[in-house]
Amino acid sequence: MDKIIIQGGKPLYGTVSVSGAKNASLPLLAATLLVPGRHVLHNVPDLRDTRTMLKVLETLGARWERDGGTVHIDTRYLSRAEAPYELVKTMRASVLVLGPLISRTGYARVSLPGGCAIGARPINFHLRGFEQLGAMITLDQGYVEAAIKGRLQGNVVYFDTPSVTGTENILMASVSAEGTTVIKNAAREPEIGNLVDMLTSMGARIEGRGSDHLTVHGVQELRPAEATIIPDRIEAGTYLLAVAATGGEVTITDCRPAHLPALVEKLRSAGVHIEEQETTLTISCPAESVGPVQRLRSVDIRTMPYPGFPTDLQAQFMALMIQADGSSIIHETIFENRFMHVAELQRLGADIKIDGSSAIVRGRPPHELCGAQVMATDLRASACLVIAGLAASGTTEVSRIYHLERGYENMVAKMQALGADIRKIRE
Ligand code: EPU
Repeated sequence: MDKIIIQGGKPLYGTVSVSGAKNASLPLLAATLLVPGRHVLHNVPDLRDTRTMLKVLETLGARWERDGGTVHIDTRYLSRAEAPYELVKTMRASVLVLGPLISRTGYARVSLPGGCAIGARPINFHLRGFEQLGAMITLDQGYVEAAIKGRLQGNVVYFDTPSVTGTENILMASVSAEGTTVIKNAAREPEIGNLVDMLTSMGARIEGRGSDHLTVHGVQELRPAEATIIPDRIEAGTYLLAVAATGGEVTITDCRPAHLPALVEKLRSAGVHIEEQETTLTISCPAESVGPVQRLRSVDIRTMPYPGFPTDLQAQFMALMIQADGSSIIHETIFENRFMHVAELQRLGADIKIDGSSAIVRGRPPHELCGAQVMATDLRASACLVIAGLAASGTTEVSRIYHLERGYENMVAKMQALGADIRKIRE
């Protein structure tokens, strides 16, 4: 198994470019199943999760090839309508093939994803939504089967809580339903806007892009798409937080600062200087030997659906707050078990207490945080440990870094280019 070894305490300088968004690539890849044909997606990051989604498409009969960031997908012939357990258990977002498969073939069988390190993560909203559109849903030996006679029928679908992949699944199912579908309390994440744009270019008629109220007028025919994946806002945010934690000056290119409103605001409140342009962010924190010259102020965060503070940056934000001046309350409202990184941060000397869904972080001077052996438990927890290791003094060893490779393209090389002393080794 691979490990990451970090010698901490070095500020970061230079330029880093952001890859395409993992969480936009997955639904856009799934959407190619909607209509038989040759689709082209640009700016698709080469990650463990995008490879898994391509494997799922291949299992269903699609063919694909990659040319740099561009992936050509041929979905003219599907041979199967089943996403097997072996794939779904490695990536729950495989359930995104349900919507397009039901829409295209009237039948889909997808393994029910089990629990996950960050919470139970049920898919009941997806299934209820499909039922409201007229699908018959049955559970059989751990698999969800969805079947319809004829076409799906437009209806009102209401989410109790905005669900990102739930909204995407219902959107994909409803574009070719008969009549109009209204999705109420829809999630508003930018990745959904990316999917709406792709579906629109395929001929779908969708109103309300970017809002929590999406209206889909079903169409009889769709055409293959060419679409570009938006930049990964969570990757951009992770680099911002790494520089805030180590000090230095870095320009982050090929990103959309407009997609990070809450993080930029919180970092500014903490005392970080950030300049935003349309597709770049420049962050500067003058550095001394360990950590920024001036300690940042502690600030509180509360994770919320977009445009609130993203849960996918909560762990990385905590890695910054462990060395800020004062106390910070980090409230996680999306997932019930997303504090697995706390025990690992404590191994570096962090002072954190968990009280239900809140973590109370008492910042310590950076030189009091000292490298240690830690274990990554999920994707964003891994990024949190890398940031903490870069900022702490001494050596940090992060094991189980396969989690990191699910969602960050070349993170080690990108950090090295910024001057970090970080390397990957095989145990
Ligand atoms: N929920 C239900 N029932 C459902 C669906 C969701 O109770 O049927 C609950 C969840 O348990 C959670 C809340 O609703 O409490 C919101 O979950 P959501 O459905 O929005 O999460 P998701 O679609 O499964 C996506 C991202 C996650 C990200 C969350 C929240 C993808 C592929 N995944 O998951 O990304 O944390 O939205 O923003 O888009 C990551 O990239 O590390 C990651 C975990």
